[in-house]
Amino acid sequence: TSVPSVVVPRSFRLLEELEEGQKGGGDGTVSWGLADDDDMMLTHWNGMIIGPAKTVYEGRIYSLKIDCGHRYPEYPPMVRFVNKINLTGVNSSTGVVDLKSVSAMSRWKNSYNIKMVLQELRQHMMMKENSRLSQPPEGQVYSN
Ligand SMILES: *[C@@H]1O[C@H](CO)[C@@H](O)[C@H](O)[C@H]1NC(C)=O
Ligand SMILES: *[C@@H]1O[C@H](CO)[C@@H](O)[C@H](O)[C@H]1NC(C)=O
Repeated sequence: TSVPSVVVPRSFRLLEELEEGQKGGGDGTVSWGLADDDDMMLTHWNGMIIGPAKTVYEGRIYSLKIDCGHRYPEYPPMVRFVNKINLTGVNSSTGVVDLKSVSAMSRWKNSYNIKMVLQELRQHMMMKENSRLSQPPEGQVYSN
């Protein structure tokens, strides 16, 4: 394990991410925001990914839960899909994402953020090994 060279203050970073999310940051294919506006600790977030065209995910909208722990962004957030999905690196019984399975996220850096997690998951859906996987019926959610 390496010692981070620059320690990014958690709340400073998350307030920036909140502001960018509220402005509709990104290209419209992903979005993010606080799950509860009263969450002063900025821990629990909702994310959304629009399934990429020309893949089995096209036409579906995926909700995600993202938890930024007290050591974020030195440590990655906990990410899980709400809507059922068949995608490598996603636990098929819980929807929990193993970020180590997402190539661009496999070695977490404190410069990464929620937007990048969502965008890289969307890229991951477009990978050859994922773009044709058979999918659960639309509208199903994980039970946890
Ligand atoms: C999925 O998550 C459950 C609950 O945490 C765990 O028991 C199981 O081993 C996981 N499955 C895989 C394939 O990692
Ligand atoms: C995921 O897709 C593969 C290949 O299409 C399939 O064999 C597997 O059963 C699917 N898994 C789930 C949980 O739907």
